[in-house]
Amino acid sequence: MTFEVEPTVGNSEWFTEDRFGLFIHWGLYTLGARHEWLQSRERSTPEQYSKYFKRFDPDLYDPELWAQLAADAGMKYFVVTTKHHEGFCLWDSKLTDYKATNTPAGRDVLRPMVDAFRNRNMRVGLYHSLIDWHHPHYTVDTKHPLRMDPQFIEASAKRDFSIYRDYLFGQTKELLTEFGDIDLLFYDFSFPSENGLPGKGKEDWHSEELIRLIRSLQPGILLNDRLQIGGDITTPEQYMPTRWVQVNGKRVVWETCHTFSGSWGYHREEESWKSVDLLIKMLIDVVSNGGNLLLNVGPTGRGEFDERAIDRLKGIGEWMKRHSRSIYGCTQAPEAFSCPQDCRLTYNPQTNRMYVHVYSWPFKNIHLHGFAGKVEYAQLLNDASEIRFKQGFVASGIDNGAFKEGRDEDTLVLSIPVKKPNVTVPVIELFLK
Ligand code: GLC
Repeated sequence: MTFEVEPTVGNSEWFTEDRFGLFIHWGLYTLGARHEWLQSRERSTPEQYSKYFKRFDPDLYDPELWAQLAADAGMKYFVVTTKHHEGFCLWDSKLTDYKATNTPAGRDVLRPMVDAFRNRNMRVGLYHSLIDWHHPHYTVDTKHPLRMDPQFIEASAKRDFSIYRDYLFGQTKELLTEFGDIDLLFYDFSFPSENGLPGKGKEDWHSEELIRLIRSLQPGILLNDRLQIGGDITTPEQYMPTRWVQVNGKRVVWETCHTFSGSWGYHREEESWKSVDLLIKMLIDVVSNGGNLLLNVGPTGRGEFDERAIDRLKGIGEWMKRHSRSIYGCTQAPEAFSCPQDCRLTYNPQTNRMYVHVYSWPFKNIHLHGFAGKVEYAQLLNDASEIRFKQGFVASGIDNGAFKEGRDEDTLVLSIPVKKPNVTVPVIELFLK
């Protein structure tokens, strides 16, 4: 009863089971608190940007607490920026001085994070930027902070990109050999030329060779699709697909990543924070289309998740506590079952249970077309209270002058309470025959 999906090279079994992860963007841009691209957007010189390196001091950083907040929200894996486009490294890389150990933080901040999440049985994912605005041999391109600086462009011509590439390979090797089993690798990103300036892609990264290196070091790792040649997981960003994501006409393993507000890095002033209600619906929507949701937190410069993030995580956790059964191990419902109005379906092929997520609570009945004869038992998921149902043909006849409930042979009608259960999105669990 499940769909055919393009096989992955890495191990995607845990991934499609877990469905929900935490993205973490943390770096020097965190201190600017106005978007992780500020160096490029404001076309900062290295001197200007260096003020953040001198002040990176997350004295309240508690990775145990981060991992606990994620676990309580129902997240099963995490992906953290080991290095973002700015080039700053969270771990103690032997290949650069531009790392957390040399800031006032004075320590590797990646390792304790990996340990804390792993100790809670969460899978470990590493984000790594292909782009690097700090490395002395990273050449100018359309995204570079100094792209408008004629002197830099001239000097850039003398840079030797192969030295940067070696650095990229070397750091990949460090990340994949010094932190134990890594479950997922999220490279970011390839881009076309623009406005007379070059882009960068697979020829620049030597993507094929890089992938060979990755697979030789960690054969089971799941690799994303931003090296410009395939990969295990397709990663639409800040976008909600309305059906199962396809590549070359085939269903693929996919994950969409989203922010709480707009910026990935901590942003003090953004007011566009999504509500708990919307975030839960995004998670359900994604699973109902066979995908994963990776939800991002940008911790502060002091090293905390700020109160808005905690509020959202707690709200999601409150719902997940009683409804995660409709998320974990679930996927798109088989096509024979049609989704009722204002609802979303998810389906667990192992337990053969169907979940009806009711986005807008209707009066007394939900009509399920294609379900007659297929349901053994139904209950509300939040409190395991029975939902009774009727099924099979009833004429809509008007023998006493009033319209009778009309039903075709295919339809099953759930008799739901008039009052919406007091949960963000009520879910009805159907035990299929
Ligand atoms: C984009 C942005 C970046 C962010 C990433 C997350 O590629 O450049 O800032 O880290 O999306 O997917």
